[in-house]
Amino acid sequence: MTVPFGIEVSDRIPKQRYYDADFFALEGERLWSRTWQMACRLEEIPDARDFVEYRILDQSVVVVRQDDGSVAAFQNACRHRGVELVQGRGRCGKAFVCPFHGWRYDVDGTNVAVTQKRSFAEHNLDPADLDLVPVQCDTLAGFAFVNLDPAAPPLRESLEPTASALDAWKVGSLRAEWWCAARLPVNWKLAVEAFVEMYHVVQTHPQLVIPTRFGMRDGAEFDPAAFVDADIEYLRAMSEGMAGMCPSTDVAVAESLRGIALPSEAKAAITLWNRTLNDAVVDWHRARGHDVPDLNDLEDRGLNLTFFHGFPNFVVLPMYSGASAYRFRPLGPEETLMEIWSLERVPEGTARPAPRAPEWWAVDDPRWPPIPTQDFANLPRQQRGLHARGFEYMRLSAGLEGHIANCHRVLDGFLAGLPHDRLLPAVQEVNQYPFERPILDLPL
Ligand code: FES
Ligand SMILES: [Fe+2]
Repeated sequence: MTVPFGIEVSDRIPKQRYYDADFFALEGERLWSRTWQMACRLEEIPDARDFVEYRILDQSVVVVRQDDGSVAAFQNACRHRGVELVQGRGRCGKAFVCPFHGWRYDVDGTNVAVTQKRSFAEHNLDPADLDLVPVQCDTLAGFAFVNLDPAAPPLRESLEPTASALDAWKVGSLRAEWWCAARLPVNWKLAVEAFVEMYHVVQTHPQLVIPTRFGMRDGAEFDPAAFVDADIEYLRAMSEGMAGMCPSTDVAVAESLRGIALPSEAKAAITLWNRTLNDAVVDWHRARGHDVPDLNDLEDRGLNLTFFHGFPNFVVLPMYSGASAYRFRPLGPEETLMEIWSLERVPEGTARPAPRAPEWWAVDDPRWPPIPTQDFANLPRQQRGLHARGFEYMRLSAGLEGHIANCHRVLDGFLAGLPHDRLLPAVQEVNQYPFERPILDLPL
């Protein structure tokens, strides 16, 4: 079928895709109902029968730890008259009990009691038709994911090559340090797109500007000590600006290396500094019993990247020993819930309280660290600007914003109702390091 406001010129994105009510409804029907979505952190459901409710638009899913430690998911609707069985989070005792007429379901979704059963006609009591409706569910890198489409390909395939990269980074052994939520008055794609290009960094985050990082001014001679100072300054700005993007303990490790002797040639000095810092961070964590990957090995394998996208709405940003994770969920055509997790290394086997769902902060809440504050300042202005009568489409830089263009074309593949076997290779193409990615000839 033809997609309304579809992408016709790959680097031009029609503005209606960010607010049109019918376009938004089509995304609900054809994108969110068919893609893998991060439903919770496994830490939220540490013990058998712990559950959390995952909401996406008008759909609610119960994600519940089974008695054997696996995780299963069900549509959150009683098979009698549809009441949502659970709200929020909790622990299923002997059974999930519907609050309306008391039907009961075991933790694996099996219906175990219909009250006043003899009052129902036989055709309404077919056992195969009384259990909770299962939802595809799988775990990866410390998260549980769900997919409302029983025909969707498995999670791991749908998340590659990000899935393998997260394994290599040992993201699964990170634990939540904090978890925040922002209610953004913008379309979910606008929110995602604010984080998947580096083009905005110079103007939006001047404290992160790269040239100062290298201790070089145009034409000036390379100064290794100035380079080290600039790199530590950059790490500190990332750490204070975004917490888990660079744990403060890693900044302290860098600080302890400040006096290190480096060659005067730039490339050799930068390589030696990076490799020394990587090893020092790894040693620091291993000495404390943390499960941390060999960062130089990741470097050698081309995996020492700071950004991994899981189409459509999941992002992990590792840096040294820690990581941030983002999840973007649409609340309405012009409203998005963005959640941010800061993840840190802890000694293996450490017991920690289960993280609790955060209150939703506004974009201008003073509690946001400096880096998201800067990003959030632009977003509402952009959403309003899109409505300008004279503004028709976003014009993307093919060299710097290709990833955004690629994601829109994959979205159109979903909205056109293409089968999964055609979508999967394109999804894997956009589950890649997004920065400076060219506009691709996607296999759609
Ligand atoms: S709606 Fe659940 S028991 Fe009636
Ligand atoms: Fe930013």
